[in-house]
Amino acid sequence: MTEDSIAKALAHHNLTLMDSKALAKCVLALSDFFIHKPNDATPWNESWAQVAYLSYFLPLNFTRLKGIIEEADKRSFFAGLEDVIDFGAGLATASLALSEKHSFKFHLVERASEPHHIIEKYFPQFKATEWQRTFSAPRITNAKKTLAVFSYSLTELSDLPDWAYQCEALMLVEPSTQQDGRKLMELRHKLLDKGFHVWAPCTHEGPCPLLTQSKTDWCHDRVHFDAPEWFLKMEEQLPMKNRTLTMSYLLLRKTAPLKIQAARVVGDRLKEKGKDRQMICRGPDREFLAWMHKFKLEQEIPRGVLITMPEEIQKVSNELRVQSEIEVL
Ligand SMILES: C[S@@+](CC[C@H](N)C(=O)[O-])C[C@H]1O[C@@H](n2cnc3c(N)ncnc32)[C@H](O)[C@@H]1O
Repeated sequence: MTEDSIAKALAHHNLTLMDSKALAKCVLALSDFFIHKPNDATPWNESWAQVAYLSYFLPLNFTRLKGIIEEADKRSFFAGLEDVIDFGAGLATASLALSEKHSFKFHLVERASEPHHIIEKYFPQFKATEWQRTFSAPRITNAKKTLAVFSYSLTELSDLPDWAYQCEALMLVEPSTQQDGRKLMELRHKLLDKGFHVWAPCTHEGPCPLLTQSKTDWCHDRVHFDAPEWFLKMEEQLPMKNRTLTMSYLLLRKTAPLKIQAARVVGDRLKEKGKDRQMICRGPDREFLAWMHKFKLEQEIPRGVLITMPEEIQKVSNELRVQSEIEVL
């Protein structure tokens, strides 16, 4: 994804990347729309919605997806896959991010016509095999080599469509809100029952401790956003800041992953009296690594990464007491 493409697409609306106030006004309008009408279709026919997606949601979602793709690559998640069905593709966000590192055949399904025209005209570096405007099931020619991607589109559907269950692999990305995040964790349970295996973020296939042992937690990852200057200027006009971005996601395949003896860090560092804690996930228990201040050991591990668990670690209630530096994978 290039800034140049975004700038050219904005010029169609008589705007430049430096029109911070006008861009921010459009971003606020679409952001309000997503908050107040979370189940409604993105209003692509509106100029303000196109401007907001190009200047804000596209760069942010693209960065989130790159973070997920990086995690996927660490586990060779895409091995053997050839076709991508990007459902509810919008401005091809997920396909653009995937195409930076992988050469798939991209089939984009998007009911609105405007995103297709924008991508074809202003992002010529991205080559889609096919765009499909449909409400019905996409054509799957080789289910065993197909990855179905739902990037911020499940939220506009009542459920994962039936055709997706035929595909070898699924990449599901949802807004990191308590409601959408917990819905995704419930869907994980259903997909495991249907024979899928979770490759990430989960390190196990037991019940999700954030769902079963808490009424409020939801699993989400965090990435840093290195914002360009024009974005920072626009952001000055907005109430929300985006130095880090969160997202909830699931990567699943019908093929089982290689077993790993690792845990995933699923929480930020919590500073408490006498200790620091970070939530980890390695099984059905809700557990925390704990650095007791009296041991004079300090470490902050980025949320979302895999770690090696020390072979012997003292467990007190739901706390695993760290006595030597934890290895990040
Ligand atoms: C919030 S946007 C996400 C766009 C993009 N995937 C991203 O990650 O930035 C959701 C998209 O799903 C599309 N959509 C929703 N339901 C659909 C359906 N039944 N068939 C095709 N597209 C659909 C909407 O038009 C919209 O472009």
